[in-house]
Amino acid sequence: MCGIIGYLGNHEATPLLLDGLKSLEYRGYDSAGIAVLDRTSGLTSTTKSESKVALLTARLQDCMPKGRLGIGHTRWATHGKPSLVNAHPHTDCGGRIVVVHNGIIENFRELRDELVSRGHIFVSETDSEVIPHLIEDASGEDLLTAVRGALKRITGAYALGIMSRDEPDLLIGARMNAPLVLGMCQDEFFLASDITAVIPHTKKVLILGEGEIVAVTPMGPEVTTLDGAPVAPKIIHVDWDVSQAQKGGFSHFMLKEIHEAPDAVANALRGRLLPDGNVNLQGCDLTDADLRGFQNVLLLGMGTSMHAALVGEHVIEDWAGIPAQAADASEFRYRRPTIGPETLTVVLTQSGETADTIVGLRQAKALGSYTMAVTNVVASTAARDSDAALYLNAGPEIGVASSKTFVSHVVNLYLLAARLASAHGRMPIERKQELSQALRELPEGLRAVLGREAEIADLARRYARFRNFLFVGRGINHAIALEGALKLKEISYVHAEGTSAGALKHGPIALLDQDFPVVAICTDGATRDKMASNVHEVAARGAPVLALVTQGEHHLDDVTTDRIEIPACDEAAVAILNTVVLQLFAYHVAVELGRDVDQPRNLAKSVTVE
Ligand code: G6P
Repeated sequence: MCGIIGYLGNHEATPLLLDGLKSLEYRGYDSAGIAVLDRTSGLTSTTKSESKVALLTARLQDCMPKGRLGIGHTRWATHGKPSLVNAHPHTDCGGRIVVVHNGIIENFRELRDELVSRGHIFVSETDSEVIPHLIEDASGEDLLTAVRGALKRITGAYALGIMSRDEPDLLIGARMNAPLVLGMCQDEFFLASDITAVIPHTKKVLILGEGEIVAVTPMGPEVTTLDGAPVAPKIIHVDWDVSQAQKGGFSHFMLKEIHEAPDAVANALRGRLLPDGNVNLQGCDLTDADLRGFQNVLLLGMGTSMHAALVGEHVIEDWAGIPAQAADASEFRYRRPTIGPETLTVVLTQSGETADTIVGLRQAKALGSYTMAVTNVVASTAARDSDAALYLNAGPEIGVASSKTFVSHVVNLYLLAARLASAHGRMPIERKQELSQALRELPEGLRAVLGREAEIADLARRYARFRNFLFVGRGINHAIALEGALKLKEISYVHAEGTSAGALKHGPIALLDQDFPVVAICTDGATRDKMASNVHEVAARGAPVLALVTQGEHHLDDVTTDRIEIPACDEAAVAILNTVVLQLFAYHVAVELGRDVDQPRNLAKSVTVE
C-alpha cells in the first residue's frame, strides 16, 4: 500500500511531486523518493529519503532537480525493510527506465531469478524492482509496448508510474488490484494513488480500470488494455474541495475529522432519510421484493470497518428480523461460506481498496450473492466491483485511524437495516418515526458531546499514565467498546482490549487491579441493569472505572471513579455519541503521550495488501 504520484506538464515537477507525496503519506511513510527527467540534459535525477517526505523535501531544499516530467513514491514496506536502497523509484540496469509501484508482485522471485540469469543487476530487496528490469528486457521496443509485455508477465497487484529517458514526453500509469487515478488540467496531468493528491489542481479525474494502462503525453491521456485495445476513459468530476483535505485549524487531521462527525451524519442522511421516516438508499435502492428475497445478510470489513459491521449485524437482526453475520474479511476468504443469491453481502470499507475486503467481496459475488459496497471513495475498487455502492459522502479522511467514517458507516447501516425492516414488514410506523427523529437530532447531540471536549481531554490526561485498559459494553455498545479499545491502542500504543461486559467474568476480570482501568459503556438501553452489575463486579476488584452514563443518571456514582454524561436519546443514536466520546478520549491520551496521532507507527490508512 504505498502512495504514488506522477507529473507531466509545463511546470517544474519537483515541488508538485513533493506536495502530492505529502498528501499521500497516509498510505505509508517508511521511505519516500522522486525522479525527475530533465529534457535538456536528457538525465534523470533521483532523490530518496529513508523516512518521511519531510526528509526528502529537506534534502531537495538547496538543489531542486529541474524537469517537467517526474514520478514519486511514499512507501509502506512489504518486501524489504524500510531503507534508502529499498525506497522507490527503482530503475533498470541502465538507469533509463524509472518506476514507482504500489502493490505486490507475487511472482517476483521467479522473475528476478530469470532476469539475474540474463545478467540483470538488482540493488534492492523489493519485489518492485523486477518491473523496470522486465521493461528493459524488451529493449528495442517503444516504452509502451515494453510495459505491456512486462505487465503480462506479472501476477499480483500493482499501480505504477513509469517514465523513460528515451521518451521524455511520456508518462505511463497502469493498474491491477491497486488504485490509480489521473488528474487532468488543461495542459498538465497528475497521476496519483488517489484523488486527495490531485484535487488541489483539478476536479476532473480519470479513473483507471483494472488491467488498464494510461499513456499520458502533452496531447492528453490514452487508455488501453494490456493487449493494446483502446478503452473509453472514465472521467468523473470530484466535488471535494481543497480545504476539506486540509486540517482546518485543528492540530491534527484526526481531531478535525472527529469534529466532522455531525456533518458526516448529516451527509449520510441527506436525501436518504425521507420526511415520512422511510429510507431511500440512493444509488443502490432495491425494490421491496428484492429486499424480501434476501434471507440473510453478511457484513465484511477490516479494522474499524469490521466494528461497524458488528453494529450492522446487531441492528439488522434486531430491526429486520433476518439473520445477519459480521465477518472479518481476511478470515472469510479462507472459509467455505454457504452463501448464495439469498444473501445480501455488505462490504464496509472507507477506502474501498482494502485488499482483504476486496477479496471477500469478490468471493461473495462469485458465490452468487448480491454485493453492496458502503464506501467513502467514489469509483473505488469496492464500489466498482459491487452490484451497488452506497457512498458515505463523508469527505476525505486523512488521519490513519478512522473516526468520522466509522460514524458514517454506522449511520448508513442504520438506514440499510431500517430499509430491510420496512421491506420485510417488521418495522412499525411508530418505531420508524422514533428512529428517524433520533437520527435527525443526532448531529445536534454530537455537537453537544463535542462541546465537552475539554472535560474529556482532562480525563484523558489523567488516565494517560495507565499502561492497560479494558473497554466493556453490551449490545450495540459491545461493538463500540471494541472500537474504543482499537482507537486507543492504534494511536496511543497503550494496550487496550475490548470485550462484552458479560464475558468479563469468564477471563478478563482476572487482569484487573488498581492499575488496570475499565472504560464501561453504561448508557441507557436494553441491558442497562446487567451493565450496572458488571460495573459493580469490576469495582469490587479495585479497578478504576471510567463510565459513560446517561445524563442525569446517578445509579453508578458510588462505584465508578469517573463519569462522562451522554445526552439521553435513542439507543442507536447513543451508540454514536459514545463512539465520539471514546474517539476524543483516545485522541487526548495519544496527544498527552506525545504520539504521532495522524500517522501512528506501523500502520497505514489503506491496506492494499493481504
Ligand atoms: C487500516 C486502517 C484502519 C481501517 C482499516 C480498514 O487498518 O488503519 O483505520 O479501519 O484499514 O480500512 P477500510 O478503508 O477498508 O475501511
